[in-house]
Amino acid sequence: MQVVNPATLTATAMTDLRHPDPSLYRDVMGAFPTGVTVMTLTTADGTRVGVTASSFNTVSLDPPLILWSLALKAPSLHAFRTTDHFAVNILAEDQRQIALQFARPSDDKFAGIPTETGQTGAPLLTGALAHVECRTVARHPGGDHEIMVAEVLTLRRRDGTPLVFQRGAFHGLTST
Ligand SMILES: Cc1cc2nc3c(=O)[nH]c(=O)nc-3n(C[C@H](O)[C@H](O)[C@H](O)COP(=O)(O)O)c2cc1C
Repeated sequence: MQVVNPATLTATAMTDLRHPDPSLYRDVMGAFPTGVTVMTLTTADGTRVGVTASSFNTVSLDPPLILWSLALKAPSLHAFRTTDHFAVNILAEDQRQIALQFARPSDDKFAGIPTETGQTGAPLLTGALAHVECRTVARHPGGDHEIMVAEVLTLRRRDGTPLVFQRGAFHGLTST
């Protein structure tokens, strides 16, 4: 494990913030664990699109809003810019292969993955811990990503434990 002593970190923060060392940036931010989602939609011509995303978070309860961000270089960005309705699939601990499948560019990311169709037309991944159907209401610039804010339209969940991502690896959640 790389150890960055506080003096180095302070110096880095003071001098290099506009051009951070990418590996240090990832190392520090990787300390923050997240859940794992797959964002899915069906385009107007019927194409199904899905992207693994850990940038998901809730924003507001009233009205119910969530956000996530997608890389400007992602091939799926066009679909998320031109299709408002999508689903957040919150992955369960046993779905790490699904997380990997949707994290690689592919002509058919849904191959071998059971789904049903949600009320908005978005594919819902069978076995996910939760399905949250949404409509994108704002898209904001966010450096090399685009931040999407969406209103929540439907909510569904089942019991189970979530998949966790931290420091570039998948983990289970151990209750104490
Ligand atoms: C655990 C995990 C979380 C990820 N989170 C994001 C994310 O929040 N935003 C993003 O743009 N890419 C994220 N990625 C990378 C995308 O899933 C990957 O670039 C994918 O190929 C994008 O789909 P596309 O190639 O069909 O556009 C993540 C990958 C993994 C493994």
